[in-house]
Amino acid sequence: MNSIPTYLAHFAARAYYDVRQLGTRSRGLYSTRTRQVGLLIAAAFLLLLWVDPRLYHSLKPRDVLRLVPVPAPSLQLVAQLENLNATLFEHYRSHGGSLPEQVFPYQALTRAQQARYKLLSADTDGLYLFTTLIRQVQDQIPDLLAALTVVIEALGPRGVAFSFLEGPSDDLTASVFNDVLQPLLLSLGVPSQRIRIITESPAIDFNNVNRIEALAELRNEALQPLWQDPTLRENVKAIVFFNDVYLKAEHVLEMLYMHQVNGAGMTAAWDWYKREPAYFYDVWVARTVSLSNAFSSSRLYANV
Ligand SMILES: *[C@@H]1O[C@H](CO)[C@@H](O)[C@H](O)[C@H]1NC(C)=O
Repeated sequence: MNSIPTYLAHFAARAYYDVRQLGTRSRGLYSTRTRQVGLLIAAAFLLLLWVDPRLYHSLKPRDVLRLVPVPAPSLQLVAQLENLNATLFEHYRSHGGSLPEQVFPYQALTRAQQARYKLLSADTDGLYLFTTLIRQVQDQIPDLLAALTVVIEALGPRGVAFSFLEGPSDDLTASVFNDVLQPLLLSLGVPSQRIRIITESPAIDFNNVNRIEALAELRNEALQPLWQDPTLRENVKAIVFFNDVYLKAEHVLEMLYMHQVNGAGMTAAWDWYKREPAYFYDVWVARTVSLSNAFSSSRLYANV
């Protein structure tokens, strides 16, 4: 039984001997002051690595270039987006559905974007008309309504007008437009005479009409407020026509910004068909800056 203390005593004696020996064996390593200082510096460096391993990877300054945009919403916008989410959540739930997830996790602008798009609201008489022919978009609605909320804050509720033509849909699009979108626009301060939302338009039998004529008529119908409201017609700065894509506020604002700084008559978003390999989609409708057909413009095509 006393073999364990004996063993431990023997082990301690052996370790002590080894430590004593270490000094003589490795004397060459830290015999001079320069070497001692060198070893101290190396030890300090290893200690630093242990404290912050990032030093090992890079000595570049950290967090100077943030790659992730940082949205900077006002408290008012945060409250508006939260209210909107709660209202939509309840609307979908009470109609037996569930709220689709937003594709864009945040819609609010960064500080840099807020500064950039100030230009768009500088002229307080000007109006932007937002218009769409749309149906069956209940999955896109959370992003669309959040984007509109952010756009209205950026442009000011007195600088915007809406003309939406909806239908036919067999999902919640019409009910959201009537019960959520209309009250939302009013609550954000858009004057009621600048909001025209028509839901449940009848289906068009495209087999029995000229498709282009029928679509042109629909577009003119959506543009009615321009003819009916002289204050809109005389002050409109741009008409934003959008379709059933997932929208983010900065998409709309950047296009308006580019439109304005280029003094353009018409500006279109880049219309991807596929990204790998990349194709530009609507070559039939699209025009280049020089008004030529996008399809026959080899320069444009080469850049795709
Ligand atoms: C929206 O509201 C629902 C219900 O309160 C909540 O579960 C969800 O996390 C909210 N979503 C966002 C993006 O805030």
